[in-house]
Amino acid sequence: MPIQPTAKIWMDGQLIDWDKAHIHVLTHSLHYGTAVFEGIRAYPTDDGPAIFRLSEHVERLLNSAKLLSIDCDYNQKELEDAIVLTVVESGLEGGYIRPLIYLGYGEMGLNPLPCKTNVAIAMWPWGAYLGDDVMQTGISLMVSSWARHDPRSLPTAAKATGMYINSSLAKVEALRAGYDEALLLNIDGYVSEGTGENIFLVKDNVLITPPVSAVGALNGITADAIITLAKELGYEVRNELIRRSDVYLADEAFLTGTAAEVVPIRELDNRKIGSVVPGQVTKRLREAFDACCRGRYETHRDWITLAKR
Ligand SMILES: Cc1ncc(COP(=O)(O)O)c(C=O)c1O
Repeated sequence: MPIQPTAKIWMDGQLIDWDKAHIHVLTHSLHYGTAVFEGIRAYPTDDGPAIFRLSEHVERLLNSAKLLSIDCDYNQKELEDAIVLTVVESGLEGGYIRPLIYLGYGEMGLNPLPCKTNVAIAMWPWGAYLGDDVMQTGISLMVSSWARHDPRSLPTAAKATGMYINSSLAKVEALRAGYDEALLLNIDGYVSEGTGENIFLVKDNVLITPPVSAVGALNGITADAIITLAKELGYEVRNELIRRSDVYLADEAFLTGTAAEVVPIRELDNRKIGSVVPGQVTKRLREAFDACCRGRYETHRDWITLAKR
């Protein structure tokens, strides 16, 4: 879906007209994939737009920068304020927010240390990433022929732009083969994650999700919310290594991510998972998650930040 422009993009402390938010073609990060970013959502609430888990996203952004030895000129509070301002200026009730810390124009070569650091934050309207009716239909997955990053090759806790080549290769392979999404295994054959989502299984009413650091997956903020909500609703949650065959035999499986939100998996490698879509546990957690994002859950109001000037 093409990006729908809004009025302004925040760039290095200024709100720039959307159409004028340009960078030089010799920008370092464009050549070597050395930028770090976040994907954040804002949702409509009775009190105006609210940003979901803003502080956790900014913390992960700054940690990603640290992992790549990128010095950011803005601290946690300044970035949070800039994101709130971007949401307010957008005039939107909800949508997707993309903060990016990148190495700018001025130096070239593989040593990033002398490079100038730039920051940009954009927001635009963005509906359901994997389809509007995904809660009713679920999605189809294939196990990718591409293995997930190995922690000995890349800092897998970083959300760095260059690392997404791996996701992109897997996504294109899956789409060309007629599936909605790819499931990546790590180099030892254990299930890691989707191209931009974490995975959960439900077996005998217990939730199982892989230990992210062991399988090279990103430490998802949506996954953390789901684990918290599931425990509060009385489910046992286990962090365990998963084989692809465990997914085939699960009662339910779902993906979580800021863009995708909570999405039931209908089938993996043409094997149907469970008997109904969405499964009962998936549905219950999705409903709780949606209520939290919109400030309608009895607890976790602290997970949302109202975007007010
Ligand atoms: C590779 C990858 N895994 C998992 C996730 C889910 O993370 P979150 O729930 O914090 O959006 C994302 C999205 O940011 C991702 O890009």
